[in-house]
Amino acid sequence: MDLVVLTLTLLLAPVAASSERRVYIVHTDVSAMPTHHADHREWHAAMVASVNEDDGMILYHYEKALHGFAAALSASELKALRDAPGFVAAHADHQSSWSYDTTHSMEFLGLDPGVIMGVLDTGVWPESASFDDEGMPPVPSRWQGTCEPGVAFAPSTTCNRKLIGARYFNKGLVASHPHLNISINSTRDTDGHGTHTSSTAAGSPVPGASFFGYGSGTARGAAPRAHIGMYKVLWQETSHASDVLAGMDAAIADGVDIISISAGFDDLPLYEDPVAIAAFAAMERGILVSASAGNAGPQIGTLHNGVPWLLTVAAGTVDRRCHTRF
Ligand SMILES: *[C@@H]1O[C@H](CO)[C@@H](O)[C@H](O)[C@H]1NC(C)=O
Ligand SMILES: *[C@@H]1O[C@H](CO)[C@@H](O)[C@H](O)[C@H]1NC(C)=O
Repeated sequence: MDLVVLTLTLLLAPVAASSERRVYIVHTDVSAMPTHHADHREWHAAMVASVNEDDGMILYHYEKALHGFAAALSASELKALRDAPGFVAAHADHQSSWSYDTTHSMEFLGLDPGVIMGVLDTGVWPESASFDDEGMPPVPSRWQGTCEPGVAFAPSTTCNRKLIGARYFNKGLVASHPHLNISINSTRDTDGHGTHTSSTAAGSPVPGASFFGYGSGTARGAAPRAHIGMYKVLWQETSHASDVLAGMDAAIADGVDIISISAGFDDLPLYEDPVAIAAFAAMERGILVSASAGNAGPQIGTLHNGVPWLLTVAAGTVDRRCHTRF
């Protein structure tokens, strides 16, 4: 067992030798973009090319959650980039100690049918009965999202009027761990957390559900007629701030009404926390971000996602007990 743990630790140690490149999230001032550039992508590419001519170093262009990009840079390239016009700030990508959180049912919310909920999580198991689209209204015409193909994830059989979007983001993970074999390179959930959170928030009614015969009844989400767009940004291997930011950027661009995220970074300053940054941009566009406060400490009174421009949802307790033996 010790050996397994050790191997995993080595495997996940970021590639960070000083001369090597590591991933940075770079904030730019779009008002400083020279007018001869067609768009911010071309401008960002030119900024990076001016410090190094290698291709393909930009992992993500961000335009909704923040203005900027994620790129693999060496220390000297980053230093040179700091002098570029329009450079605002840069910080190293953060590899997470995400902790997955959960909330319980919220029937009192009574959300309108037709709401599009973007869920940032570990992906989705689309064959679950919670994602059956019987009785669902049509996909709203304003929806800009997509159902991306991937390993064990064929859009023709996975997306429907309930699960209207499925996208996955792992360029930050792959850049920091080039030798890692991704478990499943698609929006399919290999962990279960994203399937659980998205069905708890917006799953279709499933009659005849029980916990091994206990508590039988109809299982349903808080908003059973809401549409779901899943953004897989948390990976079984480990998770990266650049991928989370990319998922939130995409959710805003795709036209979600609500973003739900049941996970958080505990050890990041506000100005580097992708949820805090992107939630501010979402708030400016009238998109509610509902994020979990955490299921436990680390200390009494500590929480994550505790910023005033999002809805921080505390874990509760339930009045039911379930004793069972397996
Ligand atoms: C990744 O998969 C390849 C091909 O199956 C294999 O050769 C390699 O050893 C694997 N790497 C790790 C780190 O498991
Ligand atoms: C995952 O799939 C995408 C789309 O086919 C591909 O561009 C990417 O390189 C793949 N990543 C890995 C780590 O296999």
